[in-house]
Amino acid sequence: MLKRNIIILPVFALCLLLVQCTSITIVQDETPPEEKVQPIRIIKGPYLQNVQRTAITIMWETDLESTSQIDYGNEITYSEKVVCEKLKRIHEITISGLEVETIYHYQVISRIPDEKEEKMEPVITSKDSTFKTAVREDSPFTFAVYGDNRTYPEVHEKIAKGIAEKKPDIVLNTGDVVEFGLFYEGWGREFFEPAQELFRNTPFYIAIGNHEQDAPWYYDFVSFPEPENYYSFDYGNAHFTIIDSNQWLDKPDTEQYEWLEEDLKSTSAVWKFVFFHHPPYSSYPGYTEEGTEDKKLRVLCPLFERYNVDVVFSGHVHNYERTYPLLNNNVERYRYRDKAVVYIVTGGGGAEHDSLIENRSYFTAESAIMYHYCISKIDAKNFQMMVYNIEGKPFDFLNIGK
Ligand SMILES: [Fe+2]
Ligand SMILES: [Fe+2]
Repeated sequence: MLKRNIIILPVFALCLLLVQCTSITIVQDETPPEEKVQPIRIIKGPYLQNVQRTAITIMWETDLESTSQIDYGNEITYSEKVVCEKLKRIHEITISGLEVETIYHYQVISRIPDEKEEKMEPVITSKDSTFKTAVREDSPFTFAVYGDNRTYPEVHEKIAKGIAEKKPDIVLNTGDVVEFGLFYEGWGREFFEPAQELFRNTPFYIAIGNHEQDAPWYYDFVSFPEPENYYSFDYGNAHFTIIDSNQWLDKPDTEQYEWLEEDLKSTSAVWKFVFFHHPPYSSYPGYTEEGTEDKKLRVLCPLFERYNVDVVFSGHVHNYERTYPLLNNNVERYRYRDKAVVYIVTGGGGAEHDSLIENRSYFTAESAIMYHYCISKIDAKNFQMMVYNIEGKPFDFLNIGK
């Protein structure tokens, strides 16, 4: 009995001491609010752009003008860093000299000058994230496609989470990422914040939609190859071409048409994919007339056939639709290769649904009105696309062999 008390007493005393120490620490922390330096916040990102085999661009936005720094390396201890002392709110740094097809850890840091101390304080640091440099030409890879995520961030968040779980190498958005492109707040609320967990580890690309309003914010927040509203890039054994279909609605865009033809002609990639916002084939009820957006975009289809484009992805209409392989506006039901092109409408990322005409169009292989995203796996011989609904259940499948 006595022995036990001897043990209990010192433990009790130690606890008292600890409680006292804790309370002393709290008292010391109570600095008057007016003397505290304003903290800065990261309000967008960090997010990944323009991934290449040996380089990547990382962007983020802070609420105050601040410096830019990226710590990175193969381990979480970050053996390398790049620093830009210039003060800015939208930060953009390209890291080069990287290893091909390699996973890196990174964090971003921003500092603002403290006038009193004449040093750069305070500091904001992002949590540890990863990026993977682009794969070698013969390595299989995965890309996600979705679109029209605008207006309902809670839906966009679920879609982005579903995509992140599939761990794609890159993600492409078919446009209408915000409701009003000229409205600054929407870019955070509708696009960046709901998909933050996806974008900090996965580079994204956008085919600019009509709702982006060709706003300066679009060009400020992305870093795609110039001129950014249309561009192309290679990833693995595939060539991705992104065009701005807004420019085609009033009159044929000769400059872009020539660029597109040259772009498709000059690539020797095994797979060719084209992305633009307005679909050339859709069973949207408003598209039964001549002269509607879909018919205007069909002026591009002969180019896709001539240069062996495999699949064209669009959005704008808020549902899902997949055509049979089409050649010269006709169905090539059994030819999933060579000249025939499959057209996908994927506009189910968050905006209110659009309907479909009652009777199936001659070109429609599958269609559905639901929130969804597409995950495509590529290797030298096969393209396999699985389409998932917002609960993560697959509901359509496309396989193209070479
Ligand atoms: Fe849309
Ligand atoms: Fe649209």
